[in-house]
Order: sequence, then C-alpha cells, then structure tokens
Amino acid sequence: MRASDDSPILGPLRLGVASVERSRDFYRAALGLETREVPGGAELFLPSGNLLATLEERPGAVPESPAVPGLYHLALRVPHRPALARTFLRLKEARLPTDGPVDHGVSEAIYTEDPDETGIEIYRDRSRETWPTRGGHLAMGSRLAPPQDLLGALAEEMEGPGSTPEMTLGHLHLRVSNLKRSVDFYSSLLPLKVTQEDLPGAAFLAFGDYHHHLGLNVWSSQGGKPRDPQRSGLIELSFLFPVPSAFQSWKDRLLSQGCPELLSVAPNESWLLVRDPDGWDVRIRQAS
Ligand SMILES: [Fe+2]
Repeated sequence: MRASDDSPILGPLRLGVASVERSRDFYRAALGLETREVPGGAELFLPSGNLLATLEERPGAVPESPAVPGLYHLALRVPHRPALARTFLRLKEARLPTDGPVDHGVSEAIYTEDPDETGIEIYRDRSRETWPTRGGHLAMGSRLAPPQDLLGALAEEMEGPGSTPEMTLGHLHLRVSNLKRSVDFYSSLLPLKVTQEDLPGAAFLAFGDYHHHLGLNVWSSQGGKPRDPQRSGLIELSFLFPVPSAFQSWKDRLLSQGCPELLSVAPNESWLLVRDPDGWDVRIRQAS
C-alpha cells in the first residue's frame, strides 16, 4: 500500500476471546497463521513473522451486539489474485463461513468470521489506475462477483497448494456510535485523511494516497450504548511509526497541544496510549 515512507502503519491488535484454543484452531485452519501461547492467551503471527494480534482469554465471554460499537472487520491484504483464490478455497474446504467474492472497485474481497463473530476480510488491491472515482473523489462500492471467476485464478498460482500467502493488516473497519465524532478523533490524532464519505453512514480514512486504512460505520450502531469490556472483541488497536523522527515530531506536537483522551505515556516515551471515543485503547508507537 502506498503512503509516504514516514506515514504510520497499522500495528497489532488485542482481542478478547471466549476460548483461546477455539480461536487458535480457527486462525490456523482459516488462514494458516502461526500461533504462540502466552500467559492468559496466545499470539497470532502473520506469515512474515509480524504479530497480528494478541488473544486474551475471557472464558464464557459473548460477542458484543451489532447495535453496540465493535470491530466490524479486520482486513488482511494478500499480494495478488491467486493468493486470494487460494484463501477462498481454503475457507470453503474447511467448511468455514465464507462470503464473497465482493468487488469493491479498488479491491476484490472475501469475508469470514472468527468464533467470537469478529469479521475478517481478505482482499487484494486492484491496480491503482483502475480505482473508480466520482467527482474527483474515490468511489468504492460493493458488488457480488462470480466465485468461479476468482477460483479460475488458481490456474495462475505460483506457490504450492498448501502454502500460506503473504499477508499484511491492510485496514480496520470499526462499528462506531457517532460517525462524525470518530472521524474527527482519528483525523486529528493521526495524519489520516478522509478518502470517501459519500456512502451513507460510513467514512474511510487513509495515510498517504491509499484507499483506506480505517473504515468507520454506524450502519447498526448509531447512538449505540457503550461497549461492555467483559464481552469478547476488540480491546486495543495500534499504529506504528516506522521512522523514529516522524514519531518524535508527532508525539511532541500531541503533547504540546494537549490531548484530553491521553491515558498514558511509556516511561521512555516510545509509545502513547489514547482512549478512542467508543472506549478502545489506541496505542501509537515507534516501530522497534
Ligand atoms: Fe474492509
């Protein structure tokens, strides 16, 4: 994804799950992710070895209602269409819930859901020259596409059938209770720009010139009551600044202008923790 070299990127998540064993089995079967046990939970690793999420066990926790803010989906980006087709086939063969493919104009995506009902999108970007626009602005949409077209891409596959494709955390999409409040929060906290806001009840924001790193919607959660932290689902999202000097400038600016949502700062100031308007922790740090 293109953004300037000093732009932040999405970092690891913390997710509350009812059963670590059940979630670990799912992420292995659905996506081929490696896992590692840690006290009270497990870590999920992308094929690159980067941490995707820490799972924290809350035995018996139930998912949050769609009427309440939550993680609408996390979206894993694969590098090309054969990798998307391979993942689609993998989900089908494992008899896991699978939706799509959906053509978003900028990308082609498939969807599933983890055992705690957290949505998971897997997608590949279309080439930038073909991204649709309307009135000079990005015009992402959703159109169901024939599964056979996508599966046909398996013929172009370079890697072996059992391989796990390269993946990155491409974007996050949050269900929020007040769209404007969340857009204002994220766009003033970080160098995120709104890329599309003409879809009723939703807004998309990106670093640099990507289509979006963050989606926000109130489709089912407009005015929703605060989330119950005892339920399963998103606890924390994070952003990493890959360039230390960019992090320093961002941090100095934030601390000098004040940030009412600031929760804590690391003793060595290598990260800051901020509270999102719907109650999630947002950790922003310098990549190590
Ligand atoms: Fe998405």
